[in-house]
Amino acid sequence: MTDLQIGCLVGSLAQGSLNRRLAEALAARAPEGVKITEITIGELPLFNRDMEVDYPQSAVRFKADVAATDALLFVTPEHNRSIPAALKNAIDFASHPRGTNVLAHKPAAILGASPGAVGTAAAQAHLRSILPVLDVVLLGQPEMYLQVGIDSFDETGAPQELLGEHLDRFLDTFVTFARRHRAEPAQARVA
Ligand SMILES: Cc1cc2nc3c(=O)[nH]c(=O)nc-3n(C[C@H](O)[C@H](O)[C@H](O)COP(=O)(O)O)c2cc1C
Repeated sequence: MTDLQIGCLVGSLAQGSLNRRLAEALAARAPEGVKITEITIGELPLFNRDMEVDYPQSAVRFKADVAATDALLFVTPEHNRSIPAALKNAIDFASHPRGTNVLAHKPAAILGASPGAVGTAAAQAHLRSILPVLDVVLLGQPEMYLQVGIDSFDETGAPQELLGEHLDRFLDTFVTFARRHRAEPAQARVA
């Protein structure tokens, strides 16, 4: 039986995304009682506050999916030393209109993968400054700055052994954190 629903926002829209592979590997390794499901962000239009009077259906669906989770995972690449525009766009939709912020009080954690040595540290630092302002309850440790390439996963999508061990330890810590900080089921308006 599932007692913890974790929604996963992947910051990449690319086919063959390393970060989506990472998200899929996490979902496959979810411990007993935990379900990790991606909440897609690619179909959202570009946020414009004029839309707040008649929120697009894709945004209403996205916000309802976020509201239905117990916790959130942000799995993001780094684009030009920040988070990708698509992820920021999704966060803007999730947080507005005023009074309908579905991110509020969600326990959450951040991971990111890049072929580069910085391992998305700069992007994650930006995300760490955005999310608490929206009342997201962020896991502090462990930080997950992952230098990952296509060869970090086998043909079935399973990560290399060492990466898999890191992911298991991370999930263990996050699941404990999420159960401790889980809020009451959201009754929030989404639009
Ligand atoms: C527009 C753009 C900007 C990028 N900027 C960075 C960067 O600042 N730091 C970094 O480590 N990698 C950067 N990269 C390389 C990405 O880390 C790499 O494309 C990675 O595979 C993206 O993750 P994904 O496979 O999940 O899409 C950039 C890639 C693109 C397309």
